[in-house]
Amino acid sequence: MVDGGKFLAGAAAASAVPLIAHSQTGDALKARAPAEMRRSPPSAWWADKFTNIKPAPDTEPFFTGEALTPYEDVTIYNNFYEFGMNKSDPATRSGEFKTDPWSVEITGEVDKPGTYNLEDILKPVDLEERIYRLRCVEAWSMVIPWIGFPLADLIKQFQPTSRAKFVEFETIVDADSMPGINSRFAIVRWPYREGLRMDEALNPLAFMAVGLYGSYLPAQNGAPMRLVVPWKYGFKSIKSIVKINFRESQPSTTWVDLQSREYGFYANVNPDVHHPRWRQDMERRLPQTLFSRRVIETQMFNGYGEHVAHLYDGMDLASFY
Ligand code: MTE
Repeated sequence: MVDGGKFLAGAAAASAVPLIAHSQTGDALKARAPAEMRRSPPSAWWADKFTNIKPAPDTEPFFTGEALTPYEDVTIYNNFYEFGMNKSDPATRSGEFKTDPWSVEITGEVDKPGTYNLEDILKPVDLEERIYRLRCVEAWSMVIPWIGFPLADLIKQFQPTSRAKFVEFETIVDADSMPGINSRFAIVRWPYREGLRMDEALNPLAFMAVGLYGSYLPAQNGAPMRLVVPWKYGFKSIKSIVKINFRESQPSTTWVDLQSREYGFYANVNPDVHHPRWRQDMERRLPQTLFSRRVIETQMFNGYGEHVAHLYDGMDLASFY
């Protein structure tokens, strides 16, 4: 965490880096990117949007008192196969990726289908900070201070019909700026696709992130807008979304298509459901160095059970993994 005084001193020292204004209430965000790493706004309207962000509360579930994973680790250790398979590929190979202008296509069971500019989607929403655990199926985890808004606030804008039982998301496919797309090592059938049941999508914990550590989302973390579903394995949290489709039936999703014995549609964090390649009862909490490695117990629903377990009442989570 960076306190307000240190933040201002650091920012003044790095005067070439644009400042992100404090919220007008005078409250400070819980966490900000190091001054020297703070990002420039993709365009002017982004800077305006980021001037008034509600800081995370001091209470669960929108906050955790656990130590934050440092900005450097959150933004260099990534999974974003469109840029390559190595953890550092998304950070080092995304320099050509353009996130402004950006539009999102809304289709299917909604009263207001269409193609919307991201600026218009964000206009009515209030940005807030949320500090969530992220648990990857590969048995590593982080604690990340996101900036964004509830997914429910986005969904309501387009007025789904009563037939909308699932929501499906797709990532952009741009072979010119995403070197993983045409790589001979690519295993994913593009576009990357994910989905949620409608009641999961409307749960207050489901979040659309447009920033982290008080700054604009880096390409490698899913700029300009990505999903964050903290009680599910990280692969559900699809990045760089360009299409949202509302539908009556359960959508097919990237990892289920690839290997349905290992990955399920629900993908709730569950220490009792075995995965053939990674332990699911323990996790490595990043950062990790050559000399220090912190292994902790994985919690059911990643510790968010009180807020989401009811969504699965009566379901056998060993079958619906
Ligand atoms: N979204 C897209 N489009 N492509 C991906 O490869 N990887 C997923 C998810 N979203 C992925 C994606 C996986 S496996 C994880 S663990 C998280 O993104 C990682 O998010 P992070 O890199 O911001 O930590």
